[in-house]
Parts: sequence; structure tokens; C-alpha cells
Amino acid sequence: MIANRKDSSVSLYEQVGGEAAIGALVDSFYHRMLADPEVNEWFRGIDLNRLKAHQRAFLAVGLGGPEAYDGRSMRTAHTGLAITQDAYTTAVAHLTEALIQLGVDEPIVCQVIKRIETMRAAIVEVR
Ligand code: HEM
Repeated sequence: MIANRKDSSVSLYEQVGGEAAIGALVDSFYHRMLADPEVNEWFRGIDLNRLKAHQRAFLAVGLGGPEAYDGRSMRTAHTGLAITQDAYTTAVAHLTEALIQLGVDEPIVCQVIKRIETMRAAIVEVR
């Protein structure tokens, strides 16, 4: 098992099932997002690879992976997209369902969502 450097507990990444689980999680999250008219408009015309990369990035924030994203870069990446509070909430709900479907325990799901919420203010433009 991979230890978390900060507190030597098992990393969130490992707790959701490690590499084997991430592919299934991205697929499930991606399908939920694309099937939902509340959020799929934002991804219209974006190719499959880029879309999956997006869902992976979303997940990476939730799992606290390498510090690839910060609030500043996320604000820049989403400027002009007019992402609403509701759209953000819907995306979070889909990730929650994908995690639960995969059998991840509720306290772990809560920790993932807590991390995802740290990006909300940077990404949402329409309040
Ligand atoms: C923690 C949450 C999120 C993270 C980490 C994230 C990450 C990213 C990144 C890294 C990019 C730039 C991609 C590139 O230039 O190649 C991007 C662009 C984009 N994001 Fe997000 N995003 C998040 C939430 C959302 C939400 C909630 C929506 C819409 C409901 C959204 C819609 C988009 C769209 C439409 C683009 C432009 C298309 C693209 O570049 O692929 N994002 N996001």
C-alpha cells in the first residue's frame, strides 16, 4: 500500500481502489455527465479523449493527486464558460454516484467531495 507522505495514512487514491478502480470510475462518471442535459451542453463538440481527460482531471482533484491544479489555473481554464453553481453541483453528484456504485465507503466519498469543493469558487462564474 502507498502511504500518504503527510500523515502516513493510506492515500485517498488507494482507498478508492487504486489504479484498477480509476478507469472504471472515469468511465462511469463520463457516461453520467454526457447523459445529463443539466451539464452535457458544456461538453458538446469536445472529442472523447479530451472529455475523458477532463473527467480524469476532476477526479485527480478529488483524490488529491500531484498538485497539478490550483485555483488560479482552474479559474483561467474555465473563464468564459459560464459554469453555474447548479452545473458544478450536478457534476459533484455524478462523481458521488460513480464512487458509490464502485463500492467506495461513504466516509471516503465524503473526503473526495470535500476536495472537489475546494475548486468550486474558481470554476463557477454564474451564481
Ligand atoms: C474540480 C473540478 C474541475 C476540474 C479539475 C477541471 C479541469 C479542467 C481543465 C484542466 C481544463 C483545461 C483542459 C485543457 O485545456 O485541455 C478544463 C476545461 C473545461 N472544463 Fe473543467 N474542470 C472542473 C470542473 C468543470 C465543470 C463542473 C464543468 C462543467 C459542468 C467543466 C467544463 C469544462 C469545459 C467545457 C472546459 C473546456 C473544454 C476543454 O478544454 O476540454 N469543468 N477543466
